[in-house]
Amino acid sequence: MLKNQVMKLFGIEYPIIQAPMAGGVTTSRLVAAVSNSGGLGMIGAGYLSPEQLREQVKEVRQLTSGYFGVNLFVPNEYRVKEKEVQAALERLHPVRSQLKIQSAEPVLPVYEKDLAIFHEQIQVVIDDKVPVCSFTFGIPSEEVIRALKEQNTILIGTATTVKEAIEVEKRGMDMVVVQGSEAGGHRGDFMEGSNESLIGLMSLIPQTVDSVGIPVIAAGGIMDGRGLMACVCLGAKAVQMGTAFLTCIESGAHPEHKAAILKSTEDKVVLTRAFSGKWARGIQNQFIAGMRGDENTLPEFPVQNALTQVIRKTAAAQNNPEYMSLWSGQSPRLAKSVTVEELIKDIMDEAKTILTAVQ
Ligand SMILES: Cc1cc2nc3c(=O)[nH]c(=O)nc-3n(C[C@H](O)[C@H](O)[C@H](O)COP(=O)(O)O)c2cc1C
Repeated sequence: MLKNQVMKLFGIEYPIIQAPMAGGVTTSRLVAAVSNSGGLGMIGAGYLSPEQLREQVKEVRQLTSGYFGVNLFVPNEYRVKEKEVQAALERLHPVRSQLKIQSAEPVLPVYEKDLAIFHEQIQVVIDDKVPVCSFTFGIPSEEVIRALKEQNTILIGTATTVKEAIEVEKRGMDMVVVQGSEAGGHRGDFMEGSNESLIGLMSLIPQTVDSVGIPVIAAGGIMDGRGLMACVCLGAKAVQMGTAFLTCIESGAHPEHKAAILKSTEDKVVLTRAFSGKWARGIQNQFIAGMRGDENTLPEFPVQNALTQVIRKTAAAQNNPEYMSLWSGQSPRLAKSVTVEELIKDIMDEAKTILTAVQ
């Protein structure tokens, strides 16, 4: 059922990709469980050091002989603006006091360093012959693409508009993930403004399918067999699901994060720049509400991300969801606390029921 070239290329039984989720969600156990259950597991490596990435690739290989992939953040040049940083630090001060944070002010990121780390991460993907590599926040350089292609790595770009998907194809990616406005976590836009790039998946899939030759993978709000079949009907060759896998038993998400999604509703899931300086979708909490008025003047990613790191870490250690980034897509009512195997089985059972009913 639903066989296509993407599944053949990945050597997977079902058209299901577990979204890479940087920040500790995509444990080796989660990634391997997905690959062992007929889907494609992805390591969210955006925040991993090259050493950590090498270690996780080794660990995943010990747990599965199936295909899996690595996802990286393409670094975009940024500047640390002293005045902006000072204003943001002042803004964050009451939160630090409330959480009783006494550590020194955060170390600020440096673009050149980020770029060097990115190239080291790429080297790990090449050295360890990782079969699939996906990117978000942009498209890597020609040299990076060439080096990965020499290893026959399957390359996936992320797009939030048709224009971006066309660019992803033009620059030599093998497939494109279209990220609808429903999607949890950071927006992957890199051409238009973030506001202009908030396109619903229902519009994004068919218009992209009509405009590119490479396979289209759908992401955003997909949680079950209904979502999967809808995306397939619109022309997607596979789906990439984040929130649905985040609440699985094998995921490394904080228990408070999982609990927040399991009791949330679609109207509580909002877009915010407050945590990282980049627009991202998550469950509304006190931190987001408190920063609302300053949202547009905060430093850009990853500067704001560095400024809030200690707040997010402390809140997690204190089991306080009000100051953690509770990333979630717009379908939290459909989230379940199950194993990966159960989730994938349920999705495919539903898909089969739908197919039979339509026939
Ligand atoms: C907690 C979390 C972290 C995420 N981190 C990444 C990431 O590191 N790289 C990436 O390409 N996408 C990331 N995403 C976005 C997903 O790839 C995908 O677009 C999104 O999960 C789809 O929406 P859904 O959560 O409703 O399934 C993340 C999403 C979530 C929920």
